[in-house]
Amino acid sequence: MNWFAVSLFFHLIGVGMIFTVLIAGPIIEANYRWENDLRMKQHAAKLLRSVGLLSPFGALVLVLSGIANMVVKNITFANLFGSAAWLGMKLILFIVLLTIGMTTSPKIARQRAMLLEQMNQLNPPEDVNDKMSSLNSTQTISFLVQWILVLLILLLTLFKP
Ligand code: HEM
Repeated sequence: MNWFAVSLFFHLIGVGMIFTVLIAGPIIEANYRWENDLRMKQHAAKLLRSVGLLSPFGALVLVLSGIANMVVKNITFANLFGSAAWLGMKLILFIVLLTIGMTTSPKIARQRAMLLEQMNQLNPPEDVNDKMSSLNSTQTISFLVQWILVLLILLLTLFKP
């Protein structure tokens, strides 16, 4: 039995889950921004949150299968600082990615939902549009940073410098 093929199979499913979020996210985000109807905007914001829920499961699959990859390939914790420094670097970038995914993205989603509620009121606060634009910019930066991190992780894995 080729155990590396088994763990790699699950690892690649995890990679697919993360890429699904990173591709679907900006597409739904674009729909959200172009939409003028407030109800449709709320709908797109909800959809974005639902797709985002895939990322913790993807992360869990990646961590478990990643550890399995390490066991099968005989990579120890000590190797992360020596012969497998590429993996050590990859893990640091992965933790940064995870932190952004667990903090920034849900925070933006919550604040946006709140602002959309306020926009729905008869007398929305004056600064609601400015706050929304600032949140949108933060979301763009967050997507960009997440893409850069995932691409760096992929490059590290493929070239193992
Ligand atoms: C976004 C996160 C991650 C991505 C995109 C990713 C991507 C990949 C890909 C595409 C491969 C296959 C490379 C090949 O066969 O040549 C791979 C292998 C591997 N990954 Fe990951 N991975 C991620 C997270 C992790 C984590 C969290 C761990 C450890 C806990 C891990 C450990 C490994 C190991 C040990 C291998 C085998 C490398 C080898 O061929 O020696 N990965 N990863």
